[in-house]
Amino acid sequence: MKPIEIAKNIYDVGVNDWNIEDFHGYSTPLGTSYNAYLIVDDKVALIDTVKKEFADQLLANIEQIIDPRKIDYVISNHTEMDHSGGLARVMHRIGEDKPVYCSKMGAKNLPMHFSSKLNYQAVKEGEKLSLGRHTLTFLETRMVHWPDSMFTYLKEDQILFSSDGFGQHYAGFEKFDDVVGHTIMPHAKKYFANILLLYAPLILKLVNKVSEMGIGIKMICPDHGVIWRQDPLKIINAYAQWSNQTPKRKAVLVYDTMWHSTEQMADAIAAGLNAEGIKVRPMYLRKWHRSDIMTEVLDAKAVVVGSPTLNNGLFPTVSDFLTYMKGLKPLNKIGAAFGSYGWSGEAAKLITQEMEGMGFEVIAPTRHQYVPNAQSREESYEFGRAIGRLIREQVPA
Ligand code: FEO
Repeated sequence: MKPIEIAKNIYDVGVNDWNIEDFHGYSTPLGTSYNAYLIVDDKVALIDTVKKEFADQLLANIEQIIDPRKIDYVISNHTEMDHSGGLARVMHRIGEDKPVYCSKMGAKNLPMHFSSKLNYQAVKEGEKLSLGRHTLTFLETRMVHWPDSMFTYLKEDQILFSSDGFGQHYAGFEKFDDVVGHTIMPHAKKYFANILLLYAPLILKLVNKVSEMGIGIKMICPDHGVIWRQDPLKIINAYAQWSNQTPKRKAVLVYDTMWHSTEQMADAIAAGLNAEGIKVRPMYLRKWHRSDIMTEVLDAKAVVVGSPTLNNGLFPTVSDFLTYMKGLKPLNKIGAAFGSYGWSGEAAKLITQEMEGMGFEVIAPTRHQYVPNAQSREESYEFGRAIGRLIREQVPA
């Protein structure tokens, strides 16, 4: 890919990964990009690398601007291997004695991934590095989303290099928010819901910290997807809102089914929710990917989960979803379970227990034996209405 000069003497030298479909359990139908940034000054700095298999593409991109051996410093904002996998190859090319600036935790973690002989230089919060006309300031962002994560701020151009923060899994030649347009926001939301939600309280603190520091931000350059240059405040405000997890009058109804009985219950429950004015879409687990469902969970007030009982337990796709959701720790949710069964009927109870463990406000589940009839469909409809009324009580219109 031809490098893009994003500001004078500052280039995006990253790569598109058009073909990746699954990013450690997160569906990426539009692929992703691994962004890396080159600043050419008296000293030349490379901010982050790319996934290992794209290291030669990164070097080829750099070569279109300068001889890679002229790079003086590498900044590693994050140890995760989609940004550091190319480090060994890059260092081999530019000189293994060159300093790799990283956070204190980065200096601990990087040698557990790569050679311990590299020249890792741990930086402190607020520490500065002059390149000549450009000055970099390092901001510790521990657990957003790894212990080693940090941001790098370029004062003169007011650019924040934000690692995974504000990123989106999106491969494209459109590298800026104003070029790609509003369609990028669902990708940013999905990224937040599936990568960062777990750390929402820390992100809120970070957003507040950056606001209080009063630093100007003209551009946010994440390590995935497009660069925010038209309206960086738009994504900062979206992060503040998502971190607050303020729910809408909305329910996510997720289920699997064996012989369509749990499906019939799901349809009736959804109709009941809709009758109370609650936005809802039944999400069948063999149609919807867990990461797309989590995106919907982010701003929903209720999560309604249905499973048939299979061998005295949950249907496997339902277990998968519950495990995934539990890890991401969504807050402020009402939980409700339902499901059909043949003879033992444990599934709805097991879902209820799982959601209690997640801190949800859980209501008593509803079950139906074998195939729903008109009466049980009515009961499911009323179950949906009851959840809907609870949402209306708790969420202003
Ligand atoms: Fe894009 Fe946490 O790596």
